[in-house]
Amino acid sequence: HKERDSFPKDFLWGSASAAYQVEGAASEDGKGESVWDRFVQIPGKTFKGTTGEVAVDHYHRYKEDVQLMAEQGLKAYRFSVAWTRIIPDGDGEVNEKGLEFYDNLIDELIEHNIEPVLTLYHWDIPQALQDKYGGWEGRQVIQDFTRYAEILFKRYNGKVKYWVSLNEQNIFITLGYSMAAHPPGVTDTKRMLQANHIASLANAAVIKRFKELDIRGKIGPSFAYGPTYAIDSHPENQMAAQNNEEFNAHYWMDVYVNGRYPTVAWKHYERLGIAPEVEPGDEELLKAGKPDFMGLNYYQTNTVAANPLDGVGFGKMNTSGKKGTSEESGTPGLYKSTQNPYVERTDWDWDIDPTGLRIAMRRINSRYNLPILITENGLGAYDTLEEDGTIHDTYRIDFIKKHIEAIQDAITDGVDVMGYCTWSYTDLLSWLNGYQKRYGFVYVDREELDEKELKRYKKDSYHWYKKVIETNGEEL
Ligand code: BG6
Repeated sequence: HKERDSFPKDFLWGSASAAYQVEGAASEDGKGESVWDRFVQIPGKTFKGTTGEVAVDHYHRYKEDVQLMAEQGLKAYRFSVAWTRIIPDGDGEVNEKGLEFYDNLIDELIEHNIEPVLTLYHWDIPQALQDKYGGWEGRQVIQDFTRYAEILFKRYNGKVKYWVSLNEQNIFITLGYSMAAHPPGVTDTKRMLQANHIASLANAAVIKRFKELDIRGKIGPSFAYGPTYAIDSHPENQMAAQNNEEFNAHYWMDVYVNGRYPTVAWKHYERLGIAPEVEPGDEELLKAGKPDFMGLNYYQTNTVAANPLDGVGFGKMNTSGKKGTSEESGTPGLYKSTQNPYVERTDWDWDIDPTGLRIAMRRINSRYNLPILITENGLGAYDTLEEDGTIHDTYRIDFIKKHIEAIQDAITDGVDVMGYCTWSYTDLLSWLNGYQKRYGFVYVDREELDEKELKRYKKDSYHWYKKVIETNGEEL
């Protein structure tokens, strides 16, 4: 009797990235402008004003990057397609040159036995659609997003077997429409809820289309979920934790899986007069877009306490590179964030909590009963490139090892897990924190304001993960 079950034979040992964070070539080969290309131009929005103009130049170096993956034995690579490469203005002509880039990338991956996991949307909606009808606030986006997705479904049917619809809808909507930290830089909860409703419809619409077209493979959203703990067993703090789950997790995942909003959050928003407008046909569409799996992006857990009606509101996002933990934030009457005294923290003060991943998987399993694909998990840290070209990131190995053990525990518990994609493959642009917050197995030599030669170096974690893959998780 082994302590833990083994990983399934066909487990997808993977790693991930997103177009804006790696590609660069921001206006090459006919690519249109996205909201991120525009947003980063606003002074003070990102760390040292960094942009994805060049990023880590994956657009020109994808062969080298895939070569590194192949050498490591990577089984799956999750990447996103930039909508603005395929349809530069979002709803007009198709740009063949943009498609060619992804044809080449996908063929290169397949040639090296790496399963492509394609994300349709990782936050970079065309600026033209933002200008035309307010992006996610305009219902026309449902048709336009479906048209874009359909082009990719048909082109890569049979080649790409795993598809991610929206990446972290909860994050891009919350940061974009209530905290103004992401484009379009709005702080208005009513607008946030409305844009979110339309994004949910768009998510359901592409999944529905995927099924209608009978595309071979599986599709689901990637959701940013970290379980919430109460600071202690005081019933009011327990209530706050329950509130955070309802408002920040069920509010999205219930809609994906059951096509309906959770009662408590809906009632709350209705009482405030800010619930989204639901039109005839919306409910049917949401119900028709049930995903095949739940994509899980897991970084940390949240610890909360009760927050009175006149208590703290949203904290400010800080782009100085480090997020202060002393700063409290929350939603008055519902919950506020507090510090978990039992965990260590990263260089950016994110809680390190591998057990939280097992809890996340267990909760998703028992509430939604869908297979889980872990589409992101990793450690953002400062790394040091030694003179001999090595990077001794033992802290990252330790982090990933413990999270893999937590996954194995969840598998032993009976949770159905398809695979594990670390964030990220190479170092890349951290949206608000520049290039110093590194996540990769592969170090990319560049700084915020100095692109240098963008040379790639294997970190210690690269060699370690190679072993993990080779032994199917037996040797950690
Ligand atoms: C996820 C995103 O929210 O977290 C990634 O899907 C992102 O795109 C990652 O990079 C890490 O966040 P950050 O802020 O550390 O870059």
